Amino acid sequence: MNLEVLDQAATLAAAGELRRVYASAFGAPGYDEDPAAADRFVTEQLPRHTERDGFKLVVSRRAADNAITGFAYGYTGDRGQWWSDRVAEHAPPEIVAEWVGGHFEFVELAVATEVQGQGVGAGLHDALMTDLPHARALLTTYTDDRPAPRLYLRKGWQILVPELWPDSALYGKRLNE
Ligand SMILES: CC(C)(COP(=O)(O)OP(=O)(O)OC[C@H]1O[C@@H](n2cnc3c(N)ncnc32)[C@H](O)[C@@H]1OP(=O)(O)O)[C@@H](O)C(=O)NCCC(=O)NCCS
Repeated sequence: MNLEVLDQAATLAAAGELRRVYASAFGAPGYDEDPAAADRFVTEQLPRHTERDGFKLVVSRRAADNAITGFAYGYTGDRGQWWSDRVAEHAPPEIVAEWVGGHFEFVELAVATEVQGQGVGAGLHDALMTDLPHARALLTTYTDDRPAPRLYLRKGWQILVPELWPDSALYGKRLNE
């Protein structure tokens, strides 16, 4: 597995490949997102997020042809952003005070179905989380038992709010301690 950090321009240039990976991962049974969700991801979400402070995106590439097989990204989260404000509305005040604002927001992790179960997701996670300047990181993930929450727990994340909103748990990780 080859891992590579893409800057903003390279991320946007790779939008077609990132869309394919997103559609594979989140279109799979049990996730069932429709193709329009993958379109929105590359035309709306990703361009907006590449503009954020601390944006970092990592891709995995297949050695044979350099095709992108997975990606993970995040940025510096802060109040005034939709996700941080939504977390602040739903989480207990003491969690919000300690964790929300200036954190690294772990936004997305996706691996194409044909290469899942080989450590690609774990490698992407580690590459994304390496050398971050932030003191804390936050993410939301599924509340049920499936690969993503298992991976985060293996990687030392803790559950801060078991059900932040329906089907979503808030996870946190202290960094640089
Ligand atoms: C979550 C996701 C990114 C994990 O990607 P992945 O590349 O399959 O992750 P890994 O291979 O590192 O780990 C997955 C499983 O394979 C196992 N595994 C890893 N390498 C292995 C190997 N060489 N041999 C056997 N098993 C292996 C891991 O132990 C893990 O097992 P578990 O699910 O029982 O805990 C992927 O399932 C995905 O894209 N899911 C849909 C999108 C999603 O949920 N994104 C996260 C949103 S919060």
